[in-house]
Amino acid sequence: MDEVFGKDLFRNEIIWWYKRWSGAASTYQKMHDNVYFYAKSSNHIFNVQHQPYSQPDAIENTVRGVIDGKLVRLKDEKGNYLERTKKNVGVPCHDVFEIQHIQPTAGERIGYPTQKPEALLERIIKASSNEGDLIADFFCGSGTTAAVAEKLGRKWIATDLGKFAIHTTRKRLIGVQRQLKAEGKDYRAFEILNLGKYERQHYIAVNPDLREEQKRQQLAAKEAAFLELILSAYRAEKTEGFAAFHGKKAGRLVVVGPVNLPVTRLFVEEIILECRKHHFTKVDVLGFEFEMGLFPNVLDEARAKGIDIAPKYIPAEVFDKRAVEKNQVVFHDVAFIEAKPLYDKERTNRIAVRLTDFSVFYSQDSLAAVEVNLKNKASKIVVERGQIIKIEKNRDGIVSREVLTQKWTDWIDYWSVDFDFESKREIIREKNPDSGEFEEKWTGDFVFENEWQSFRTKKDRNLELTSVFYDYKNESGRKKIAVKVVDIFGNDTMTIIDVNVGGKR
Ligand SMILES: C[S@@+](CC[C@H](N)C(=O)[O-])C[C@H]1O[C@@H](n2cnc3c(N)ncnc32)[C@H](O)[C@@H]1O
Repeated sequence: MDEVFGKDLFRNEIIWWYKRWSGAASTYQKMHDNVYFYAKSSNHIFNVQHQPYSQPDAIENTVRGVIDGKLVRLKDEKGNYLERTKKNVGVPCHDVFEIQHIQPTAGERIGYPTQKPEALLERIIKASSNEGDLIADFFCGSGTTAAVAEKLGRKWIATDLGKFAIHTTRKRLIGVQRQLKAEGKDYRAFEILNLGKYERQHYIAVNPDLREEQKRQQLAAKEAAFLELILSAYRAEKTEGFAAFHGKKAGRLVVVGPVNLPVTRLFVEEIILECRKHHFTKVDVLGFEFEMGLFPNVLDEARAKGIDIAPKYIPAEVFDKRAVEKNQVVFHDVAFIEAKPLYDKERTNRIAVRLTDFSVFYSQDSLAAVEVNLKNKASKIVVERGQIIKIEKNRDGIVSREVLTQKWTDWIDYWSVDFDFESKREIIREKNPDSGEFEEKWTGDFVFENEWQSFRTKKDRNLELTSVFYDYKNESGRKKIAVKVVDIFGNDTMTIIDVNVGGKR
């Protein structure tokens, strides 16, 4: 904080004091957190907040203050004792905040492990900003700061490196929008953006000042390092001498997709060709992205040739050394969505979407291996053959299994629809290296706009499977509807359905 804001702009150390009940301990009970208050400049907003009087003061109906070092009853200009009104209730907040932690049954509890109470953020945001100001939280977790900022009429930016945090925040803020709407209040729209693929860039960027031969060598070394990293995170062994295959694991071959491009149909066809050449039948294909529409067709074609291909996402955590060392990197199975358009019987310019299937391709951990390695009194969630299974070992080492996903809908946490996907091009601003000017450029992608969504919350586990009807009004012709599903692990999958707006029935 000293580095970011400068030592001189340190304002207070706040003790956030809360009550906590727990059993006996060999130390003093920990009942506070420390909040460091820094300002961006010496000229900053500070709206004094008030906290209730302590008990003895509360009996009196007058306002007290310190004058000449003595605590006295305060008078107005006319000499009358100040009565407590809404405005002067309480004393100015000092640097010890007594704010209770979220109670186990509190409505605001989301279930995010480090969630903070809204009352804490409310005091901080009210003190240091005014309506319409911008609030940022770069470690947003469950989105408490953004939720409070939205409720208090502030603009906000929230970031987090965890996809679970982003997804939790997304759902929480839609909840806040719904609540504000129900109360007849204004609320803001928000967008979810992915930052660049910086870690991946590292593996393809070569020093432009090198000679061609050196550049080639540098690129080859970087590619080899990238392969090594992915194979070690996947716990696969390296293989040599194949064009398509890079490793093997548990009786299956492993292919690592390109670092900066999606896995394409051509890429998968090459794999099928080489499988046939060597009579291999089982392959895992690891990729950061997969071309849209690739599945399930290409997998069915492979299966028809006796080849079982399991596509898996390479997660961003592979770039986190500690996660790799601790074997915490999970390669989630690629899923695919089936959705159908429903045309209004009378007016074909009104279309809804029904979600009809969501499948996850293959297995992840071996149940048997997990059972052997699990400690007594522990449990683990395992994905195998498209089902999520909870494995538990009791204190005597007896293993029990519970299938958590009975139906395909159990996989889904959230789904949303953009009824006119290709209407919003993703534009970025880039500096032109020759002129030095900023120019707007289309990335070739489109911005997904959440026009309708349904999701589960802790309290309401229901999910609607048919969207509302969307009215295209005077528009007609071919449109693309994008359907996005976020599964219970926080993975995003998207599919596009073609519709004909206003066509003949
Ligand atoms: C203590 S939690 C924040 C909890 C939040 N105040 C709430 O009320 O839910 C910290 C968050 O920081 C995120 N985080 C940790 N390192 C980060 C980084 N380098 N960049 C962005 N987010 C990070 C974690 O994923 C975690 O969600």
